[in-house]
Amino acid sequence: MLTVADLMRGPRPAGSAHDPLEHLTACHRRVEQRLETLARAIAALPRQREESLAAIDSALSFFATNGVRHTEDEEMSLFPRLLPKLTESERAVIELLEQEHGEAGLLHSELERLAVRLHHRGPDETAIEAFEACVVRLASLYGRHIAVEDTQVAGFARSRLTAVELTEISTEMKRRRGQ
Ligand SMILES: [Fe+2]
Ligand SMILES: [Fe+2]
Repeated sequence: MLTVADLMRGPRPAGSAHDPLEHLTACHRRVEQRLETLARAIAALPRQREESLAAIDSALSFFATNGVRHTEDEEMSLFPRLLPKLTESERAVIELLEQEHGEAGLLHSELERLAVRLHHRGPDETAIEAFEACVVRLASLYGRHIAVEDTQVAGFARSRLTAVELTEISTEMKRRRGQ
């Protein structure tokens, strides 16, 4: 029998309070962990309803709070400082990432709607299948998206941003978290 902790298991990277780029990368590991939780929990739901719903709620809550702040870190703090320093083809990489944030947002909204159905109905095969399909699409989208951010965007940031700009980004990220 899986517990909620089993469904949610995975490494919890700490990230660095001082290096905003490390913090963003560590957040990507947490996103991957929650995607795995969603996949495991929806698969276990027919057998372990309560534990699975608790794990699903926890993962969706992460995306609605930490996940939203992470996207704001990128769209409001990192990308605007990078864009003026990039070539046209490099800017296109960032523009695609922003477009993918919008697509991920739609999939998150769909998961939230389906989670309500999972809670309020008995066995709802249609909702379970739709939720599973949505998780697969989200994992596929994030797989490419995170790989680009961890390699190309991190490279742009390390080579183009000044120490002052990195400190500004770090300050904004902390402010976003009430620190
Ligand atoms: Fe992103
Ligand atoms: Fe990201």
